This record gives sequence, C-alpha cells and structure tokens, in this order.
Amino acid sequence: MIGIFDSGLGGLSALKEARRLMPHEDIVYFGDTGRVPYGTRSRETIIKYSLQDMNFLASHNIDAVMVACGTASSNALDTLREAYPSIPIIGVIDAGARAAAKATKNNIIGIAGTPSTIGSRAFETKLREINGDFEMISAACPLFVPLVENGFISPDDEITKLAAKTHLKNIIEAGADTLILGCTHYPIIAGAISRVIPYATLINVGAAAAEELREIMASRGRVDTNRIGKVQYFVSDEPQGFERIASIFLGEEITDSVARIDIEKY
Ligand code: DGL
Repeated sequence: MIGIFDSGLGGLSALKEARRLMPHEDIVYFGDTGRVPYGTRSRETIIKYSLQDMNFLASHNIDAVMVACGTASSNALDTLREAYPSIPIIGVIDAGARAAAKATKNNIIGIAGTPSTIGSRAFETKLREINGDFEMISAACPLFVPLVENGFISPDDEITKLAAKTHLKNIIEAGADTLILGCTHYPIIAGAISRVIPYATLINVGAAAAEELREIMASRGRVDTNRIGKVQYFVSDEPQGFERIASIFLGEEITDSVARIDIEKY
C-alpha cells in the first residue's frame, strides 16, 4: 500500500499518475483540507502539519509514502525521514528538477511554486546540482491554490488565466521553454496555465515523483499483477467540496469513499 499526502486536492495530480503506473497498488490518500494552504505558513508549522499527516498515513499498513506537496517536500522531508527511517519517503522536488533538466532545450527553466517553496530555493539548489548553467526564474503563485481548492479549474476560467498571466509574467518574458509546476495543485489548472505560456513544457512534479515511486516499489518486489487496487481518501474537513472537484479532476465518481478525520489527534 502506498501513502500519499498533500495539504488538500493538489496531491491528486500525483495520485492520478501513481494509479496509472501502479493500478494494482492500494493507495491511502490524505488531503489536509481543514488546514490548506500550507504554502503561506512558517516552516515550523509546515513541519508540524507534515509530521501529523505522516503519522496518520503510518497508522495504515503502508510500504512507501509520497509527499505529494512541494511545500512539505521542501520544508519537512528530512524530518519525516528521521521520524520514519524504515519507510521509503519520496518528495516531489528532486524528481521534478530531474524531469525539468531533461526537458529543457534552451536551458531557461521557470519555477512556479507556493511562497514557501519558492523561498526555500529547493528547486534551484537541486537544478544547480544537476547543471550549473541553467538560467532559472522563480515565481511565487499564492493565488493558484485557492483557485484550485475553490474549483476554478477549467482552462477557460478567466480569473485563473489572469492569475497565471500575472504570476508568471517574469517567466514568460524570460522565454523559459520549461516550467516546473512546483506545487502539486498546479497541474489541476495546467489548462489555463498553458493558455498563457503555450510553448513551454509543463513539468508535473507529482507525476515525476510517481515514476520514481514505481521504481522503489518494484525494487521491493512489488510487481504488476492483475488486481485493481483500492483508493481510500481521507480529508480533515467537509468531504463534499473535495469529492466534487476530485471527481472532476480524476474523471470518476469518488463519492462513497471519502472519510473525514481529526488530524490533530495524530
Ligand atoms: N500542493 C501543495 C504544494 O505542492 C501545497 C499548496 C498549499 O497548501 O499551499 O506545495
């Protein structure tokens, strides 16, 4: 069983890919919808919340965890690994940076993320490790997460296109051919983002991490079988909004399987 967590709906962009790559695996997903967003909070708070999310997932019979949140990955990954040394825990930063480094042709890479992720410079650090010659332009995009959580996810939503144009202005002007969607919420509005930066390759960091997770699961002897895994969804606030937007994004009804938990107990 794979555990996946995010501050809310964003991790679904990683879950979708994990299911496509490993349909036989059971998945337990936690979205901290009662405390979203994480990306505008202090590092201390992000670490505290991430540990509680991890404690909740660890109360299931999990083989590995994906931190499907750029903000938690850039602030809390080391703490989580120290707390759970026997569980493989992968974040989205390294996988996302590797995917962007592979995709760029002109070596100009845009990085979009929450204020906290951009402030941590985690993607820049990793990209510089890969190749010192990349030109990197980063942009904090605080409006994107509330737009996703409130359902403005259509490629034609004017408000989302305007937010994208405003937030990504410097990246567009710099001529980046690759844009890291450094927050897992952002692939959910990839349609609107593409409209304002159509020539750039968009990097879905959750999808990149899902590929690395598949390798980990395979190395642990978890091979493809004919069974279809089950997904259990948990949230920390009213399930209705989550169900509605998740169903649209995943393209399937998930109405019966979302349970609310009290994350403060973990
Ligand atoms: N989806 C998350 C991320 O990848 C967090 C968004 C938020 O809670 O601010 O950064």
